[in-house]
Amino acid sequence: MIEEAARLMARSRFAIAFTGAGISAESGVPTFRGPGGLWRQYRAEELATPEAFRRNPRLVWEFYRWRMNLIGKAKPNRAHYALAELEKMGVLKAVITQNIDDLHREAGTENLIELHGNIFRVRCSVCGYREDLKKSGRLGEFLAGKSLPHCPDCGSLLRPDVVWFGEALPEDAMNMAFGLAERADVCLVIGTSGVVYPAAYIPRIVKESGGRVIEINTEESGITPVADIFLRGKAGEVMEELVKMIGRLVK
Ligand code: OAD
Ligand code: ZN
Repeated sequence: MIEEAARLMARSRFAIAFTGAGISAESGVPTFRGPGGLWRQYRAEELATPEAFRRNPRLVWEFYRWRMNLIGKAKPNRAHYALAELEKMGVLKAVITQNIDDLHREAGTENLIELHGNIFRVRCSVCGYREDLKKSGRLGEFLAGKSLPHCPDCGSLLRPDVVWFGEALPEDAMNMAFGLAERADVCLVIGTSGVVYPAAYIPRIVKESGGRVIEINTEESGITPVADIFLRGKAGEVMEELVKMIGRLVK
C-alpha cells in the first residue's frame, strides 16, 4: 500500500496535501474530535463563534490565549518536515491546511494555504487592522497580558484572526485551495476527520476532477470513502517512511 502511494506521488504531475489537526497531534497540539479532543471538553459554541465573542470576549480570549501558549511551545514533527521536504524535492506543489498552529510554516513549507486562519495573528473586530504577533515581536507581551486587547487604530476589540463556526472562510484562501484541488492529480490527506465544510470538499474536488486521494490517519474518517489508498498510522511515522520511498523513486 505505502509503496503504491509512493509511486503515485513520485509520478504525479501536480500533488497537493490537505491536512488537519491529526498532523500536529504528535507535536502535542490537541485535536478537536478524538480522545482528548477540544470539542469533547469544551463547548465550541461558547468559545469559537462570533456570538460567543460578542457575549463574552473575556472567556473567548482566555481560551485563545491558552491555546496560543500551548501551540507556541509546540514544535513541528516528522510529518510537517516530510511535507516541506517533498516540496523542496519538487514533488509537492502546495499544502492546504485547516490548522491554525503555524507548524507547516515553521517546518519550512512555502506554498501554504491556511483555510482557518492563524492563531498568531490578530485582527480588529471593526476596522481593517491586522497584526502578525510573531512578526511584530509582540507575542510575549500579548500572552502575558490579562486584559482584553484593543485595536491601536480605532480602539475596538481585537480578535484572533481565525475562522469561527458560522463564519465564511477567507475568500482568497478558499479560491486558491479549490483551484489547486481542481488541478491536482494526487492529494495526500493527513489527519483530518473530514467533517468540517467547505474545507472537506478539497479531497472530493480532487477526486471528481480525476485525481487520486491518499489518506493517512490513525482511524477511518469522512474522507476514507473517497480515498484510493488508506494508510493507517500516525502521521509522523507514515510520512517519514513515505518520503524516504519517494526520495528513492525520484532520484
Ligand atoms: P479533528 O479533531 O476533527 O480530526 C483529527 C483527525 O486526526 C481524526 O480523524 C483522527 O483520527 C486523526 N489523528 C489523530 N491523531 C493522529 C495522528 N497522530 N496521525 C494521523 N492522524 C491522526 O480535526 P480536523 O479534521 O482538523 O475548525 O478538524 C477540522 C476543523 O474542526 C478544525 O480546523 C477546526 C475544528 O472545529 C475551525 O476551528 C474552524
Ligand atoms: Zn480597529
